[in-house]
Amino acid sequence: MNIAQALALRGETDSYERQENIWLLEHFLGLSALELKYRASQELTTAEEQAYTQALARIAAGEPLAYITGSQPFWTLDLKVTPDTLVPRPDTEVLVETVLSLSLQSNAMVVDLGTGTGAIALALASERPNWQITATDIYPPTLAVAKENAIKHGLNEVQFACGAWFDALGLEAEPRLDLIVSNPPYIDAHDEHMPALAAEPERALVAADQGLADIVQIISQGKYWLKQQGWMALEHGYDQALAVQEIFAEHGFSEIRTVKDYAGNDRVTLARLM
Ligand SMILES: C[S@@+](CC[C@H](N)C(=O)[O-])C[C@H]1O[C@@H](n2cnc3c(N)ncnc32)[C@H](O)[C@@H]1O
Repeated sequence: MNIAQALALRGETDSYERQENIWLLEHFLGLSALELKYRASQELTTAEEQAYTQALARIAAGEPLAYITGSQPFWTLDLKVTPDTLVPRPDTEVLVETVLSLSLQSNAMVVDLGTGTGAIALALASERPNWQITATDIYPPTLAVAKENAIKHGLNEVQFACGAWFDALGLEAEPRLDLIVSNPPYIDAHDEHMPALAAEPERALVAADQGLADIVQIISQGKYWLKQQGWMALEHGYDQALAVQEIFAEHGFSEIRTVKDYAGNDRVTLARLM
């Protein structure tokens, strides 16, 4: 099989599937997309062909491409991804953009709760090197991947802590933070989208009470950690904006607003503790 034939194995011309074929061949052959184009008649070795067709079978079985290539671009970073981590989504870049637009002091104290690959914390650290950022996760193997990503990108000032939400910080709750940011689990266990997400860790996706249990916990505890005028920004489901706004209001936050993702869905709600 040559490169052109391999590319044509799946999907229509210019489809997302064809783009995935290109990414896989780039990964297995160590060639750029342009090189694949100009070397269309180059034969794959037996090992390359086997690796490629096995990867196509894994994708057909529902595995994300990032678990096969082992990395995923996020913001300006190329992040290591494993089956212990959620694959960072482009929509989460909206959360990063939103908090970068806030006027915080140059050495702001920031926590990213449930950091996964470190996506949010590391993107923020790359843009705001003087922010004092701590990234937490409940699952040690996940946090190990985030630490590797910090080293890979030379973002060595980011601190890491393992544990359930604010417990990870190992401190008494005090108003010490300027910003709390999180993309917590927010999908209901019976949501129709869950079967398509079966390859990713359930602990990263599912929350009780229609997906709102972790959001309630973060907001209700977070108010004791934020300085006056501190901000909290949370990613949530497309249909959870009103519920999240109400939870913020019940806990005394103001300046509550929701930001849409690139597809026009409500995705991030932020609020300020006054
Ligand atoms: C939706 S994923 C987000 C990962 C990453 N922040 C991102 O945006 O790609 C949620 C993360 O929260 C972590 N998590 C789940 N429950 C947690 C808890 N009780 N305390 C801390 N982290 C938790 C999961 O391990 C997972 O990495």
